[in-house]
Amino acid sequence: MVRVQIPATTANMGPGFDTLGMALKLYNIVEMDTYGQGLQIEVEGDGAEKIPRDSGNIVYIAATRVFRQVDFEPKGLRIRIINNIPLARGLGSSAAAIVGGLIAANILTGSKLNEKEILSIATDIEGHPDNVAPALLGGIIVSVQSEGEVKYSKIEPPSKLKCVVAIPDFTLPTKLAREVLPSSVSIIDAVYNISRTALLVTALIKQDFNLLASSMDDRLHQPYRANLIPGMKKVFAAAKLAGARGIVLSGAGPTLIAFCDENAAHIAGVMKETFLQSGVITKVMELEPNPVGAVAFEVMK
Ligand code: HSE
Repeated sequence: MVRVQIPATTANMGPGFDTLGMALKLYNIVEMDTYGQGLQIEVEGDGAEKIPRDSGNIVYIAATRVFRQVDFEPKGLRIRIINNIPLARGLGSSAAAIVGGLIAANILTGSKLNEKEILSIATDIEGHPDNVAPALLGGIIVSVQSEGEVKYSKIEPPSKLKCVVAIPDFTLPTKLAREVLPSSVSIIDAVYNISRTALLVTALIKQDFNLLASSMDDRLHQPYRANLIPGMKKVFAAAKLAGARGIVLSGAGPTLIAFCDENAAHIAGVMKETFLQSGVITKVMELEPNPVGAVAFEVMK
């Protein structure tokens, strides 16, 4: 039996839409084994009742991609999922499921695919690399799709960087959050984001917290998505006043993630209270950046 531990991830980090992502210290577990006949899926944890137990399960869909590629047909397959990453909240739950399914299936079939091939299939399933890459590789990943491949570079998260997430009690499917985006943007907005993404990457590498606030601004996705998340702009302003170095939408939302080097508990309280003023109940958590990606173990039966 194979057990894989996969981290949550926060994508975009403000301006780096579909490009930047960071792994966080919150994990899902996927266990997989060839066993008996047919498909058995057990799920426990956050949102377990909403996760399909049939061939529509995303862990299973990912696993079948590996099986097809290496020409393996299991007679029976048993999958167990322990879900700690809230579903459809912008913390990479689907990326974790995809990466977990791919890694487990790859190990079960003799590890024929390398990391690059796994990343490429994961990106193909997810549609963009910014969650699956850090879920697989850990740290902060800058990734681009080029000539049919994912090219990436890893940055070690700054040692003093802390994250505070405010997770609303409603879901926001990524598909919906992408449908509100315009199909083209002005050159002014494009330059706005290119410049800030470049500055953000250098600020992260140099651990320069003073640059985070201005380098995390965005004009490509957050302004359009703000209408889907009541109180988002007020929480941004309040968190900055409370000492956050930067605050952004985590992935496609609705979770907001603030970055700080101190006062995390105070920032968390302010984010919760400010969301509540707009009628949004949240779970707030302090999460550390995770330098390590998915980890797999073979467990003797
Ligand atoms: N970059 C993606 C988005 C992340 O913002 O739509 C969510 O999957």
